[in-house]
Amino acid sequence: MIDPKIVEEIKARNPIEDVMAQYAVLKRAGSNMVCNCPFHSEKTPSCTVFTARQSFYCFGCGAGGDVISLVRRAEGLEYVEALEYLGRRAGIEVITSDSDAPRFDKRRFYEMNKAAARYFRDILFTDPMGAPGREYAEKRGLDTETIKHFGIGFAPDSFSSLYPYLKDLGYTDEEMNAAFLVGKSTKTGRPFDMFRKRLMFPIIDVSGNVIAFGGRIVDDSDPRKYLNSSDTPVFRKRKNLYALRYAKNSCAEKMILCEGYMDVIALHAAGFENAVATLGTAITPDQARLMAKYTKKVVICYDNDTAGQTAAEKAIRLINETGTETSVLNIKGAKDPDEFIKKFGAPAFSKLIGESKSKFRFTLDSILSKYDLSETDGKVRALGAICKMLAGVYSSAERDIYTREIAEELGVKPESIEADTKKIMRRMERERKNNEREEALRQASGIGDRINPEFVSNIAGANTEEQIIALLLLKQENRDLAKKGADMISAEDFVTEFGKKLFTAIMELENNSSSEFNESELGAVLTVDEMARLEKMKMRRYDLTENGEKEFIDLCAALRAESRKKKTSESSLSADELAKYFSALNKK
Ligand code: UTP
Ligand code: MN
Repeated sequence: MIDPKIVEEIKARNPIEDVMAQYAVLKRAGSNMVCNCPFHSEKTPSCTVFTARQSFYCFGCGAGGDVISLVRRAEGLEYVEALEYLGRRAGIEVITSDSDAPRFDKRRFYEMNKAAARYFRDILFTDPMGAPGREYAEKRGLDTETIKHFGIGFAPDSFSSLYPYLKDLGYTDEEMNAAFLVGKSTKTGRPFDMFRKRLMFPIIDVSGNVIAFGGRIVDDSDPRKYLNSSDTPVFRKRKNLYALRYAKNSCAEKMILCEGYMDVIALHAAGFENAVATLGTAITPDQARLMAKYTKKVVICYDNDTAGQTAAEKAIRLINETGTETSVLNIKGAKDPDEFIKKFGAPAFSKLIGESKSKFRFTLDSILSKYDLSETDGKVRALGAICKMLAGVYSSAERDIYTREIAEELGVKPESIEADTKKIMRRMERERKNNEREEALRQASGIGDRINPEFVSNIAGANTEEQIIALLLLKQENRDLAKKGADMISAEDFVTEFGKKLFTAIMELENNSSSEFNESELGAVLTVDEMARLEKMKMRRYDLTENGEKEFIDLCAALRAESRKKKTSESSLSADELAKYFSALNKK
């Protein structure tokens, strides 16, 4: 538990508009501020920062809450981590009392990982058990300098080698297990080394901490070519990039994004020190944002196969969404950058970078490659696909340039491409409007509600619940009424599990807080999405003047009635049936 006074102070010293300004450009709108939502891509601002009540809410995607929720979402932090982050920002030390202190000491994890990295390195360099690793490193053309630079090592073919080593250094089984270094046999309960017979690549964060490992098997004794640390107390694979620590000083103009560890290593060794890779997953929005922090332009350099090209399309989209430029490199005559460098050398790779395609060219080429352009029919269909692509280009000047380029290339009149594109744009606009209407209807009816999936099966009840929750959050007098117990309201009266959970959490906080009720503390037990939902519930009541005892008592009575109805006859329509009903309604 964190002292509620500290939570209050942290909030007071981190005005939400200042913190939001880190993620978006704010514009004043009356007494509030608006911005393009940092959590989904949009061209007109639908995110409002309410300065008076120090909260935010996005009417587009439903993100919302106080400054702590904002930081949790933007930085991907847990509640306590977000408090620590804001504490640092304002120069307040956040002390977590023992009972609920984070279970693990991160510094010990960094030390433990570093010890493991040293251990693997020593095995690779000097131990007889390291022979297969040395052989493999040589086969892959890794020289000593590169191996040292990246801290590469070897995990021997043994189930109990790193484990006793770390145990001797004083690390507990629990720590080693949480760090993904040691597993526990489900049969015997015995600990075993997670990485075996693998060339080990330490993953190092920008501050130089060893946070995780990737391990490549040196023969085919395991179908998993690479084994990567899963998320640990010090590692989020979706938020880190391999070799960013080395790339960060030479990537301001341009950063190269590859798929694999070996690609990055080969590129760095050949002098391209601005190369990074994702960590065994497709690129994530967090990684795109991380790149945007360090560079103006990302050259995507994925494998020369269909999977690589599809992944490149996703990378373009995510990186462009951060406002960072992209281009795509076409690896010719090799399957990946590693092989290319080995075959053709560094100058040839430089040349390849020079020839890298703009996003437009890349998309155009991938469309053209799908059709037979020597036939009229193929050409017509290709043009159809191209116009669809053009219709998605936002700037009309850009669209114009592309239109002329394509027209010349395919030998058609620019005017006809333009006319077709306009037609598609008008259709897209109509569809967008329809979708918006459908979405509004869906939201009003609660269909497809991820946070409260039961909403749709009792709309009236769930609506009442949400208003009760809002009134509880808004006024102490309502919480006092709720404390009177079952005659007024109890968890049993709530018709959805979600409502029950919120009510229980609120009343627990109310009954246990030593000082004033502070809604922010609910963040300790609720997810960011759930916190955002609370914000939405309050929003519906904020502008009403009457949020006091009378409304509360009436709403409680209404919910009790709903709950009785639910108990006697379960809702007559199932969620599925209701969804069908609403979509039929919408089509009319
Ligand atoms: P690649 O197979 O292209 O990796 O997979 P690579 O680095 O070029 O591997 P080599 O050259 O065969 O040694 C790209 C990335 O996908 C992840 C790894 O992060 C790898 O670097 N990957 C791949 C896994 O996590 N598991 C696998 O089994 C395979
Ligand atoms: Mn490869």
